[in-house]
Amino acid sequence: MPGPSAPRRTVLKGAALAGAAGLGVAACSTESKLGHAETPTPTAPVDLGEASAVPVGGARLYKEQRVVVSCPAKGQYKAFSAQCTHAGCLLGELEGTVGDCPCHGSKFDVTTGEVLHGPATVPLLAVPVREEGGKLVAGPEK
Ligand code: FES
Repeated sequence: MPGPSAPRRTVLKGAALAGAAGLGVAACSTESKLGHAETPTPTAPVDLGEASAVPVGGARLYKEQRVVVSCPAKGQYKAFSAQCTHAGCLLGELEGTVGDCPCHGSKFDVTTGEVLHGPATVPLLAVPVREEGGKLVAGPEK
């Protein structure tokens, strides 16, 4: 006997299909073998909060926003996608300015995006970042 949840299942199935459609687009643009539904870099401005949260000479990982920001000198910021270029996993915690990928062990210099250890061979994708009134904003201009 179909219960009252049957229509809900139908809705969820539709949502899953919509997600899969978006997935195809992301997989094409990132060459991600895992086909993450998210794009590797922000497609709209993303507020990262206080700029002072990134230590001078260090870096900070913003997992939710999927970017990593470094601060080579006071008032200067560089940002990269936190999505590993090997198969699309999100970087784990930072060790200083080295980002580790928990999936297969790739390591990246998050100040340059450079690969320090494979299997990844492609650097992290650069993301525009700017300071606006003491706050960091990553991604394209509005
Ligand atoms: S997805 Fe990062 S090392 Fe494979």
